[in-house]
Amino acid sequence: MIKPLRKAVLPVAGLGTRFLPATKAMPKEMLPVVDKPLIQYAIDEAKAAGIEEFCLVTARGKDNLIDYFDVAYELEATLRERGKISSMAALESSSVPAGSLVAVRQQNPLGLGHAIWCARNFIGDDPFAILLPDDIVSGGRSCVAQLADVYQQTGGNVVAVDEVPADRTDRYGILKTGKDDGSLVEITGLVEKPKPADAPSNLAIIGRYVLTADILKPLSEQKTGVGGEVQLTDAMAEVIGKVPFHGLRYEGTRFDCGDKLGFLEAQIAMSVSRPDLGAAVRSFLKKYV
Ligand code: UTP
Repeated sequence: MIKPLRKAVLPVAGLGTRFLPATKAMPKEMLPVVDKPLIQYAIDEAKAAGIEEFCLVTARGKDNLIDYFDVAYELEATLRERGKISSMAALESSSVPAGSLVAVRQQNPLGLGHAIWCARNFIGDDPFAILLPDDIVSGGRSCVAQLADVYQQTGGNVVAVDEVPADRTDRYGILKTGKDDGSLVEITGLVEKPKPADAPSNLAIIGRYVLTADILKPLSEQKTGVGGEVQLTDAMAEVIGKVPFHGLRYEGTRFDCGDKLGFLEAQIAMSVSRPDLGAAVRSFLKKYV
């Protein structure tokens, strides 16, 4: 029987070194794209996929990520007194149902695989989604909802994949592929950050996954891989052949907001598509560029 997908893990314990000094005293995942922090894009996408339980894997200095989803009593009272209805509506979208969000600590940033393993008690025996908040996926149905649909058909592990330029394979987990219908591709192998010459394809995993709890066993071994980190890709590679494993060419556009250029592209794309800002931003860009 295929268990329903209700849980999501959002790892936010990385150092965010590419955004220093901005991330010296503020988590990368709180950086806003237009007027929402990265973490909220991820939570909204998960909610749209029917996810009901959220686990943030956090670290020292990142507590305001948890506070962000709390009720801001004083602020709400002040806004109510002053009749700022639209500001109150904006605040509402940043809350989650009581008791639905938990946080665990990753004391040392030992890698994404280690961060997921830190959420093992939350995961239990259940399937779960992983959303890396530095990826924003826009312009289609919730990407996790698309993965969840496939998961309901195939079971096992399903990851979102993108074709990347051949000279960039060393930034991603890359697929070795089996059957491919142009949308869904069977995964027969995985390599983390291969040099272009060693890459088995140019299909890369982006920051969206639906995995079964089978991944916890290889993760518990905490073997280190590329960069001396515990890599999620290596653990996923170990369960290939034991559970079904597919990559989905999802509908939508991914912005890598963990990278300066991707972050700026996201600001432009998300503001241009906003009814309240689009026209003004376009006209500014025409003048300025
Ligand atoms: P990244 O490697 O992109 O993020 O990890 P980073 O390490 O924070 O950023 P840079 O490279 O130093 O600029 C992808 C995701 O995995 C989380 C990060 O918080 C990010 O959401 N992560 C990474 C952890 O939670 N723990 C880790 O040990 C590593």
